[in-house]
Amino acid sequence: MFITLEGTEGSGKTTQMKLLADELERRGHRVTTTCEPGGDAIGESIRNILLHGQEMEPLAELMLFLADRAQHVSRVIRPALAAGDVVLCDRYIDSTICYQGHARGLDVEYLRSLNDFVTNGLKPDLTLLFDLTPVVGLERRRRERQDRLDAEDSAFHERVRAGFLAEAARDPMRIRVVNANRSIELVFDDALNALLENLSNKRAAR
Ligand code: TYD
Repeated sequence: MFITLEGTEGSGKTTQMKLLADELERRGHRVTTTCEPGGDAIGESIRNILLHGQEMEPLAELMLFLADRAQHVSRVIRPALAAGDVVLCDRYIDSTICYQGHARGLDVEYLRSLNDFVTNGLKPDLTLLFDLTPVVGLERRRRERQDRLDAEDSAFHERVRAGFLAEAARDPMRIRVVNANRSIELVFDDALNALLENLSNKRAAR
């Protein structure tokens, strides 16, 4: 089972991924946790250019995210799925659709085909969308660290959020919206329920 976690900056995805992984392991699943950009050594180098490099062209930025994804899907995600692991991935195709598409203005339909091309059609079974007003997330983030994309203006982050919600409305079977403006425990309960429901539907369909 392939599960992705998406959301705007500071939405708590990374914390929730760790909690979900621990809980799944406690229930006897083998779990691989990973992230984009930067899922392996090459991805780490790409991540460094993307997040800590200089300003760049939107198309160059897009190609780096896609290069990272091509490498990550073939070298990390597919092998883990083939070994029977539940794979939890912090950001994936929907981040490209929302950041490079809805927010930066690149053609969203074209991005869908590019995502298909670089992943060879690998779609998540479930996507948890941690939804939060960007100002709240950015405020959380400012207390930690800021990278090149965090530093975009608030209108950019509002477009990212609206993009995610539009994607969830377009594909409600795959993308589940979780209200992330609550305590870690309450957010975790919702996320875990969505995940367990999906897991048992999948078992029933076999
Ligand atoms: P990261 O530090 O992983 O941020 P977060 O903790 O918010 O997930 O940085 C990843 C950044 O890259 C984040 O701002 C979103 C952005 N991004 C894209 O713009 N497009 C993409 O396809 C991906 C995977 C990430």
